[in-house]
Amino acid sequence: MYTVNVKGGSKIRVAEGRRLAIAVEDSGTEIGHRCGGYARCTTCRVEFAKGEPEHFSRAEYEKLKDRKLLGSVRLACQIVVDGDMTVRPLMTVPEMGWADPGPPLEETVTPEPDWITPPGSSPDKV
Ligand code: FES
Repeated sequence: MYTVNVKGGSKIRVAEGRRLAIAVEDSGTEIGHRCGGYARCTTCRVEFAKGEPEHFSRAEYEKLKDRKLLGSVRLACQIVVDGDMTVRPLMTVPEMGWADPGPPLEETVTPEPDWITPPGSSPDKV
């Protein structure tokens, strides 16, 4: 079990391997996932203060690169909890005025992840 601290939400204990976007929801924060967790919309974006993984799913890496977001945010739908983490969700239902966060998330990372560790990927910022 690890601790996930969601800024603006609460600190919760999370089982290893839980999808970060679901852990954020478990904490009571309505994080966006407008594409249903398929690395397409970037509404599940979070800033990491602690515990940022060095590896990416290839889908996350390519989407962040396309949107010129690489190095500033990560996609919570593409991350599994593998340590203590502190994150700040940047697009939530109340902040964005959405009626709902998006289609339900599957328990596992979708699409099937191809994990990569790009050269120069950012280590913990703490
Ligand atoms: S990119 Fe759409 S939910 Fe993560």
